[in-house]
Parts: sequence; structure tokens; C-alpha cells
Amino acid sequence: MTDRLRVGVIGCGGMSRNHVAGYLNSGRYDVVALADLNDGAMREMDAQFDINTTHYDDGRRMLEEEQLDVVSIGTWHTGHAPWTIAAAAYQPKAILCEKPMADTIGHAEQMLVACKRNGVKLVIGHQRRFLPAYALAKDLIADGAIGDVQLILSFGGQGLPNYSSHQTDMYRYFLSDDECEWVMGNIERKTDQYERATRIEDCAVGVFQFASGPRALLLSDVTPIIYQGAQIFGSEGTINVDTNGLLLLNASTGGAWKEHKPDGKFFRVADEGDRFEWLEAGAAQADELADWIEGKVETHRGRGENAFKALEMIHAIYESARCHEKVIMPMRTRLNPLDIMVESGHLAPERPGAYDIRAFLLRGERMHADTENTKADNQET
Ligand SMILES: NC(=O)c1ccc[n+]([C@@H]2O[C@H](COP(=O)([O-])OP(=O)(O)OC[C@H]3O[C@@H](n4cnc5c(N)ncnc54)[C@H](O)[C@@H]3O)[C@@H](O)[C@H]2O)c1
Repeated sequence: MTDRLRVGVIGCGGMSRNHVAGYLNSGRYDVVALADLNDGAMREMDAQFDINTTHYDDGRRMLEEEQLDVVSIGTWHTGHAPWTIAAAAYQPKAILCEKPMADTIGHAEQMLVACKRNGVKLVIGHQRRFLPAYALAKDLIADGAIGDVQLILSFGGQGLPNYSSHQTDMYRYFLSDDECEWVMGNIERKTDQYERATRIEDCAVGVFQFASGPRALLLSDVTPIIYQGAQIFGSEGTINVDTNGLLLLNASTGGAWKEHKPDGKFFRVADEGDRFEWLEAGAAQADELADWIEGKVETHRGRGENAFKALEMIHAIYESARCHEKVIMPMRTRLNPLDIMVESGHLAPERPGAYDIRAFLLRGERMHADTENTKADNQET
């Protein structure tokens, strides 16, 4: 029997609770240590999961003192690269870091390099790859159930990087990790809007071309529609998929919509209702990570290389707007093209006054980015 894996968490807010739930529900981990700038966040985590952990106000001290097998990173986006690079230096077996992978693709690339150099497995939390409905959509497409995929249509909002990096990751997952060849898009940014300390646009549109032929269209903040999932139009049928299930229409369904609500490995849709997505995806993501660490599978579907491409597709929309061109992948600009446009004065906000749409997550008296001690090591030179 294999030993249980020792986990430490850096950043103990909302999403790292999904990591902890996943570790505990998979039954293969012990969560032993927490690090956060805020005591209350760590106490709440212990209370919610009835766990007894050692608390640190400095993540690096936790990495130094605990012999961790797995490090979870649940800080805001700008903290993902510095904390992943710091954790990799301590050579845990694996790191599970939240998405979007980083604030720039240059930083995301550094995360891949640091993990490779230290022999650390890196997973980014695009956990919807583990939803049974998403896996079914992928399998139906691979089996030719809707013929050749012509268009994947999806809707996002609240800025591209946070919400829609899930959507660009989803396109590739549905297409069996096909490569994106080019991206063309545009954005509007009249206000000085941020999302978890990352600059975002007011609205955006992106078109993506994949190597095997399909295209995807992303409409973000331009319609009132916003959901995780997609309408997938093929030459011989259509799939409508969201996080809870899918509808299939093709010749075998007699031209009528056929509903599928597949259960997961750990939870049943009928038992959990609205909680199913949260519970199942987190547990299955953790379970496959343990399998990867133990050599039972060759790779993890949420591996860093996939998340890098999802982020790159998002930043390619910004790059297309910046350069007024179709962006051929891989993208060569390592900085965030939206930051370049704004900071160069090319896209100055017409209604000044910075605000963060996630400021409500901040605790205590903070009204600004909650990324203390995370950015220093990672500034551009
Ligand atoms: N995969 C998903 O579906 C999903 C859903 C929600 C959020 N997220 C991602 O999770 C990340 C966190 O979002 P959240 O909503 O949980 O935020 P949050 O504000 O609830 O939690 C962040 C935590 O990090 C702590 N923190 C900040 N700087 C720190 C530091 N230097 N050292 C230690 N702790 C520090 C904060 O005190 C806070 O407790 C974001 O990148 C977000 O995009 C992913």
C-alpha cells in the first residue's frame, strides 16, 4: 500500500477549499499545513474540514519546515508564478496551482521551467476536465458522433483570463488537445478595471482556429449570456454541454435532443445536485494527481503545459488587438499585451479610477491587491 501524500496549502481562500475538499474526498492525502497572510482564513479552513494543521504566516517558512509531497497554491493570479517557483525549489512531488496559470505567459513559462528543472509535476486547476459531462463530450466528438466539428461557441465574462481561460482549456480538451493555430480578436477597455489584481478589459471577442479544422468563437462580456460550457456544431450533429450534463442531437437520436447526465467516479449527480460539479471535479483532479505521482498514469490531464496553452490563447486575443493582426501561435510576446497597451498610453482608460471586481474577497482593511510577498521575486527587469 502506498503512503498518503502530505499536502501544504499557500493561500487559504475560496478556491483552495476546493483543493482541500478534493484531497480529502479522494482519500489519498493528509492536509498537514496551511500558509496565509490572514489567520482567520486558516482557522476557517480547519473548521470547515475538521482538520488539524500547522499554520504559517509565511509560505516559504512552511516550505522550509514541512516535508511536503504536494503544495497547493490558491493565491490570486499574480501570486501563482512566484509561489510555484518558490515551491518548486523545495522539490515536492507535485504542485497544484490555481488558474489562470499566471499573469503573463512569460511567467507561466518560468513556472514550467522551474518545475522541470526540479523534477516537480505541475498541475493547474482547470478542474472541469474532470467533469463527466465534459469527458463525455470529448469522447462523443472523438467517436465522430457529430461528424467534423465546425464551430465551438461559448460565452464568458468578468474579464478574459479568469473565467475564459477555462473556456480555452475546454476547447482543447473537447478536441483531444488539438493545437490552436491562430487567434484573432478584439477588446474594448474604457474603464480601469481589474479582476483579482489583474488588469481586464470591459468586453472582448475571440476566434480560434485549430489544427484539425475546427474553429471556436468566444463572446466575453458582450452579451448577458455567461456559462461554463459550449454549443458544439458538427457536420452531422450538435452537442450542448454545460457543467452538469449534455444534450446530443444527431441521426442516432432521431433528430431530437437526448439528455445525458453522467455520474462521476466519486459522486452521483442525483445525490449532490448543484454541489456535484464542485465536489466531483476537485476529487477526480486530486485522484489523478495521486495516480500521476505514484506512476499509475503517464500524465495528468491538467498538466501545466495544457494550462500554458489555455492562457496563451487568452493573451493572443489581447495581442491581436494590440498588433491589429491574426496572431499565429505560438505567441512570441511574453508580457501581457493588455498591460503593454494600457501602460504605453495606446489604450488609456476614458473613465479613470482603478477598481477590482473581486475587491469583495479582501479581508480586513485591505482595499487593494492581496498579493503581499508574492510579486517581489517576479518583477520584469
Ligand atoms: N478553478 C476554478 O474554477 C476557480 C474558481 C475560483 C477561483 N479560482 C482561482 O483561485 C485563485 C484564488 O481565488 P480565491 O477566490 O480563492 O481568492 P481568495 O481571496 O478567496 O483567497 C486568496 C487567499 O490567498 C491569501 N494570500 C494572499 N497573498 C498571500 C501570500 N503572500 N501568502 C499566503 N497567502 C496569501 C489571501 O489572504 C486569501 O486568503 C485565483 O487565482 C482564482 O482565479 C479558480
